[in-house]
Amino acid sequence: MSFLENLNWRYATKKFDSTKKVSDDALQKIRDAIRMAPTSLGVQMFSVVEVVDAETRIKIKEASWKQPQITDSDRVFVFVSRNDGEARIEKMFEVMSGGNEEVRKNALRGYEDMVRSTVLRMDPQDMSNWSAKQAYIALGFALAAAAELQIDSCPMEGFDGAKVKEILGLGDEFMPVAFLAVGYRDENDEHSKKTKFRFPESEIISVK
Ligand SMILES: Cc1cc2nc3c(=O)[nH]c(=O)nc-3n(C[C@H](O)[C@H](O)[C@H](O)COP(=O)(O)O)c2cc1C
Repeated sequence: MSFLENLNWRYATKKFDSTKKVSDDALQKIRDAIRMAPTSLGVQMFSVVEVVDAETRIKIKEASWKQPQITDSDRVFVFVSRNDGEARIEKMFEVMSGGNEEVRKNALRGYEDMVRSTVLRMDPQDMSNWSAKQAYIALGFALAAAAELQIDSCPMEGFDGAKVKEILGLGDEFMPVAFLAVGYRDENDEHSKKTKFRFPESEIISVK
């Protein structure tokens, strides 16, 4: 099927077949899609926690209005915003320069100054919000990659972020903002038969 046919094939899966597992190869492609998502200034200011552990998922389900996708899917990718701009930028330029101070000082200085001056003037809440936007782009990439691989998924934001943060033992700088549960649909998931509702193009896109 073509990319657009796969986007039409996918739906927000409500009922997963808990006996079916996603292959390592396909999971790696979804991780790669997450990593390849574009980000503002290239800072990649978000994190993802891939939750596989059954007990952790039972706890997360409790903090997610008991939505069964959390425990019945193969695993849940938790997209996390962060507001540790200083540390993230430091790491970014350290890795980008290969730890070479000369490269960092000469070839990367202008870029680093621009990133620092743009990102570090945000207050922590603005930085979290900005980071969440980057995380959502990655969520979209993961969702599209899953569809392309004919893997079912459910994007989710129906959960208590503060509770999920505690369950995952995340530090102060992190906040879970969205999930992507992945796996395979249960044959009896009524939602797979529903006609998709989408506004006509004219309601969404205008040409000027
Ligand atoms: C950011 C986001 C959050 C969502 N949260 C939930 C959720 O918590 N639980 C759920 O069952 N579906 C959730 N959905 C699924 C939407 O309801 C669904 O994508 C929408 O109704 C369109 O249907 P479709 O994805 O099947 O085409 C979410 C979707 C998005 C994009």
